[in-house]
Amino acid sequence: MIRRAKPTDFLAVAALDRDAWSENREATFIPDGEHAWRLWCEHGIVVLQEDGDRVLGAALAFPTLSGTFCLHKIFVDRSCRGGGVGTQLMEQILAAIDEQAVDCFLTVDPQNEAAIRLYESFGFTERVYVNGYYRESEDRFVLTRLKQKG
Ligand SMILES: CC(C)(COP(=O)(O)OP(=O)(O)OC[C@H]1O[C@@H](n2cnc3c(N)ncnc32)[C@H](O)[C@@H]1OP(=O)(O)O)[C@@H](O)C(=O)NCCC(=O)NCCS
Repeated sequence: MIRRAKPTDFLAVAALDRDAWSENREATFIPDGEHAWRLWCEHGIVVLQEDGDRVLGAALAFPTLSGTFCLHKIFVDRSCRGGGVGTQLMEQILAAIDEQAVDCFLTVDPQNEAAIRLYESFGFTERVYVNGYYRESEDRFVLTRLKQKG
């Protein structure tokens, strides 16, 4: 089942966040802390896919002071990638963002081809390369999806 997260989901989502990035570059720097997830789950837009009490994937977006949304995170349990969970999470979170009628941006490792293909298929087509966006060695593309009309 896919649904909006509740504040009580924060520990399960944070646990998957700690595990899901292990095959990404510079993986140890990527997960957010449990306290951040507690706040994201109540005050941001967090959608999750669950099977029983197991969280299979989650995505997080929040509004920024410039009026855009940031799609900060999307991750799927390694055991069920390639089965459409990421696509469903994108559909749900973008539907929520589109209710606000705003542009949305995200950052992605330029070598993360799976994620870039997923994002481009959902309209994140504006691309800026930022050298050392996080640490010096952590370059990123900033991809933007313009607000959807109507
Ligand atoms: C990126 C991620 C969220 C995709 O989730 P997923 O459930 O595997 O995605 P889906 O099965 O819905 O696939 C959606 C699309 O992603 C792309 N994709 C997924 N896996 C891919 C792969 N191994 N290689 C290339 N493209 C891939 C494809 O475009 C795919 O669409 P298609 O099947 O029509 O070709 C998942 O791989 C993940 O959690 N990765 C680790 C965390 C991460 O890198 N998150 C993004 C950080 S910016």
